[in-house]
Amino acid sequence: MSLVVGIETSCDETGVAVLRNGEQVLSNVVSSQIDVHRVFGGVVPEIASRMHTEIISQLMEQALNEAGLSCKNGRPPVNAVAATFGPGLMGSLLVGLSFGRAVACAWKIPFVPVHHIEGHLFSAFLGENRPEFPYLALVVSGGHTQIVQCAAPHQYRILATTRDDAVGECFDKVARLLGLPYPGGPSIQKAAETGDDGAFDFPRGLVAKDTLDFSYSGLKTAVLYMLRERPDAAVPDVAASFQRAAVDALIQKTDRAVKQSGIHRLVIAGGVAANKRLRESAAQLDVELFLPPFAYCLDNGAMIAAAAHSRLQHGCPLPGDTPAAASISLVSKP
Ligand code: KG4
Ligand code: ZN
Repeated sequence: MSLVVGIETSCDETGVAVLRNGEQVLSNVVSSQIDVHRVFGGVVPEIASRMHTEIISQLMEQALNEAGLSCKNGRPPVNAVAATFGPGLMGSLLVGLSFGRAVACAWKIPFVPVHHIEGHLFSAFLGENRPEFPYLALVVSGGHTQIVQCAAPHQYRILATTRDDAVGECFDKVARLLGLPYPGGPSIQKAAETGDDGAFDFPRGLVAKDTLDFSYSGLKTAVLYMLRERPDAAVPDVAASFQRAAVDALIQKTDRAVKQSGIHRLVIAGGVAANKRLRESAAQLDVELFLPPFAYCLDNGAMIAAAAHSRLQHGCPLPGDTPAAASISLVSKP
């Protein structure tokens, strides 16, 4: 039996989880800082790292308790500790990484650094159906918009990326323009429920071009200009039309990637994977679809533990002394 503790502190969620045998989540505690950052309209890095520091020991204790693990000779029966090393906010990353490394050292077990996006990919392995290889993954979060080809365990090729804003970032910025609370994704989704998604025709970035890449800054600017001209526009209509355009661009590019690659298995992961319209639209694609359970779409420790378990199983964990990295690609060596 293998027990892995996963720690996630790359942004504004502190997450600690215990995973058994790479698939059974024994506990997954997440403390969100959203209420504190909402006042500022976005994440304040200094506040984020302080808050991770204040709560992380307590969350570790809670995760171990909820998993039913008690200490013998001062340590629980855990096989490895994993934490996100990047990308993310440097101060926040350092909290989880240093804490995880210290705990692993005290418990005399391996420490496994995990790339945040690889963590998101592994959230799909926490659902009932697990994807077989090869598969494509649409990774959509506050910092990333990518289509990744996963040929075999831990072998990735990035087929598409965003040339400017990430889709989650665009949801957050447009929500701000509309006076909706942070984080923008859930606020826009909620406002859109009562809106007309055909009220405004917003651009789908780069869909006419012969590339798989995404672009979201034009969409954000189009909403800004429209609101300047029509400040009285109904918020639900703008939210619904924006959400439609944002999701359409994701779906059209993903459809193209499926056809070009001939790979008909698709994982959607990252915070924006929680979006209902995206989940419904993706169900129309000619693919076998793997969506993480809602609980594992947003940042959490379980996905980090899942990625670490797999790396240990395949004999390719990253070196324990891998440094924190604010900006690092999934395919580059840390
Ligand atoms: O993966 P995540 O928790 O953190 C990062 O790695 O960035 O994703 C956070 C992003 C935010 O931009 C948030 O607005 C977006 O995910 N998000 C959503 C929804 N829930 C969260 N976007 C659209 N619809 C949602 N329901
Ligand atoms: Zn994330």
